[in-house]
Amino acid sequence: VHVLIVGGGGREHALAWRIAQSPLVHSISTTVANPGILALGGGLCTGDPVAWAGTHGVDLVVVGPEAPLVEGLVDRLDAAGITAFGPSAAAARLEASKRFAKAFMDEVGIPTARWSTHDDASAAHAAVDALGGACVVKADGLAAGKGVVVADTAEDAHRAVDDVLGGRFGAAGARVVVEERLRGPELSVLALCDGQRALPLLPARDHKRRFDGGEGPNTGGMGAICPPADVDADLVDQVRRTVLQPAVDGMAARGTPFRGVLYAGLMLTPDGPKVLEFNVRFGDPECQPLMMMLDEDLVPLMVAASQGRLPQRALRWRAGAACCVVVTAGAYPGVYPKGLAVRGLPPGDQRDARDLVVFQAGTREDMDGEIVTSGGRVLGVTAWGADLGAARARAYGVVPTLHFDTAAWRTDIGLPGVEG
Ligand code: AMP
Ligand code: GLY
Repeated sequence: VHVLIVGGGGREHALAWRIAQSPLVHSISTTVANPGILALGGGLCTGDPVAWAGTHGVDLVVVGPEAPLVEGLVDRLDAAGITAFGPSAAAARLEASKRFAKAFMDEVGIPTARWSTHDDASAAHAAVDALGGACVVKADGLAAGKGVVVADTAEDAHRAVDDVLGGRFGAAGARVVVEERLRGPELSVLALCDGQRALPLLPARDHKRRFDGGEGPNTGGMGAICPPADVDADLVDQVRRTVLQPAVDGMAARGTPFRGVLYAGLMLTPDGPKVLEFNVRFGDPECQPLMMMLDEDLVPLMVAASQGRLPQRALRWRAGAACCVVVTAGAYPGVYPKGLAVRGLPPGDQRDARDLVVFQAGTREDMDGEIVTSGGRVLGVTAWGADLGAARARAYGVVPTLHFDTAAWRTDIGLPGVEG
């Protein structure tokens, strides 16, 4: 099987690494020149992935990020007769439009925060007042994780409404969503879906705030663990029954079956798990520890999901836990320099590594063949251990051996009780 990975961050390197272990796979190509993925031996797809897949004998396309899904890449691959893992554009609306997702959850009866949506500022301000001020204000469309303000005061919430409707997020902010603020620990439960069934993965948790203790600005994710110690199999099954399977059933009933990975971002409230958001793809960096924990061949599962025939059994997982620590550059998520030389990376393609892998997220090879930084999140040091403490110790043992100017990381990923 020749697999083409669309995307090229840490999530896609983790997918490529896991896929490379499949005895079915002879080549892994990518649309982004991530040196970690290219080291696994495939080609670089330039131009349109549908055309490239057609002329390069690609048997399976795995789409990592949301943007190409929302733009209908899987629909075009389907039309060309190329097997693709990921939802159609119609199913990807669960992530592309918060308004669609919230209305869908209310119709199907999936627990979520009370909400309203407005294109009119005075109605939005009234909605903030009706929720007593402490609420959450979101741009309706895709804003790369930056369009959400969790307001502590009514003043902050009103300002956020004006920011969104005032055009700060472009077209994504043509409408604003005003939500009840939920409280509790967060959890990510992802499921492989084949249009009819949702097969949950191990639960995971990401840490989005830049600094230790959940302080500082929101980022794309500073680390992730899998599974969190405070979550048991009963809770995951509750999420499957109350969230994931109803979502798959509801999308099938609308004639837009969901295939691919459905990601429920949850808050564990005193009234049970409630959905903060759906994503229609693997989380980054949750994908990194998930791939280290998965104990079976991913490729047949992806093909089965895209063909509507996932196995009627639970997935197989390693015992223990995995922890991913993200190493960032400069003042990420603010401004950061690029082109910094990266030293200390493990040699080779890490294909046979099982317990410690350095996933590359924002790197490229420069003209001298040296690996340099190309993004704010540069590396994802991912380790397995017999328990979370051991996984954490292994990851943090390696982080300081990786070098580039301005490298920085959180020190509390995988500690008990860390929020944010
Ligand atoms: P979203 O992009 O909708 O997942 O929101 C990003 C982050 O904002 C989430 O990970 C939560 O930490 C926070 N958040 C979103 N919605 C709510 C809510 N209704 N109550 C409390 N926190 C929220
Ligand atoms: N880790 C959160 C996300 O991928 O959206």
